[in-house]
Amino acid sequence: MEPSTPHAAGGMERAGAKGPVVDRLVLRRPDDWHVHLRDGRMLEMVAPATARLFARAIVMPNLTPPITTVAAARAYRERILAAVAGAAFTPLMTAYLTDASEPEELERGYREGVFSACKLYPAHATTNSAAGVSDLAKLAGVFATLERIGMPLLIHGEVTDPEVDVFDREAVFIERHLQPLLQSHPGLKVVLEHITTSEAADFVRQGGPNLAATITPHHLHINRNAMFRGGLRPDFYCLPVAKREQHRLALRAAATSGNPSFFLGTDSAPHPRSAKETACGCAGIYNAPYALESYAAVFEEEGALERLEAFASEYGPRFYGLPLNDSTITLERRDQLVPQRLHGSAAGSGEGAQALVPFHAGELLGWRVV
Ligand code: NCD
Ligand code: ZN
Repeated sequence: MEPSTPHAAGGMERAGAKGPVVDRLVLRRPDDWHVHLRDGRMLEMVAPATARLFARAIVMPNLTPPITTVAAARAYRERILAAVAGAAFTPLMTAYLTDASEPEELERGYREGVFSACKLYPAHATTNSAAGVSDLAKLAGVFATLERIGMPLLIHGEVTDPEVDVFDREAVFIERHLQPLLQSHPGLKVVLEHITTSEAADFVRQGGPNLAATITPHHLHINRNAMFRGGLRPDFYCLPVAKREQHRLALRAAATSGNPSFFLGTDSAPHPRSAKETACGCAGIYNAPYALESYAAVFEEEGALERLEAFASEYGPRFYGLPLNDSTITLERRDQLVPQRLHGSAAGSGEGAQALVPFHAGELLGWRVV
């Protein structure tokens, strides 16, 4: 089938809807430009959900130990391919930057087609980031190399300074670190990952073609109230943490604007319930299984369904310099109830401590991937 722009199979008008009602969306198959697939048993549990929807995914390297070498990335890629058992899915590997990263290793991995990008975690900013970068100045040689060879730098954009309010850490990172970095390396290709603020959206909008941002489904759906609704709700805790409503609205405007600097990256980050529901719970929202339906709901609510395909399937590959996917995926307007728990490779309803709580658990979604 020819990849096409989303088309209507309906055509009737619906009161309250912003445009004509569409019952079926045929989209060029999307890619996920930011996902955590984990390793071992968890990898086996979650990778099929990503491979079902996405043709490619930028796989985060924050394992323990982190993926810092070409050899480790090759081996991890093999484990991912084994976990998706023959699905038409290409994992795009990333290199975890540390204070000791060597430009030669990164360049070799890029030239050999193993590394698609480098990932910069400020040390202690998030899950498994202890080995991250303590001072950007230490990586001047790495940045110069990335700029020279055109290898993208993916940034977790939050300062770790304990003096800075958690809700301000992204905006402060942009001011203190990102702006100076881009000034000294104007040719560096940078993706500001999982943006959460109007400051980030504005900054990316004003940047040149070398600057882009990924936007997650959850930051389009929830604001920070979600973490405290009727009690403490760890399922809505992720990093960067969700912000005020005004920021969620700014992200919705950016994602649905048709600006190619904003594209899909789920930041699906599974943690077992036992690690979420505990005294010091992990950050991360597991959204892979219903990610496309989740984005579709947002684009529909914003009256921008016709822009979903470009956000999900075109702007990412263009930024990365990769071909668009040829195959398609179909969404139908059909309610589906998201289960409270997912466990194992089948979408069962285990109650165990190892179960995963999907984003939108217990909610009805109005679209379904067929
Ligand atoms: C991610 C994880 O669990 O690996 N958590 C999250 O809240 N997003 C790490 C990250 O992307 O910050
Ligand atoms: Zn992430």
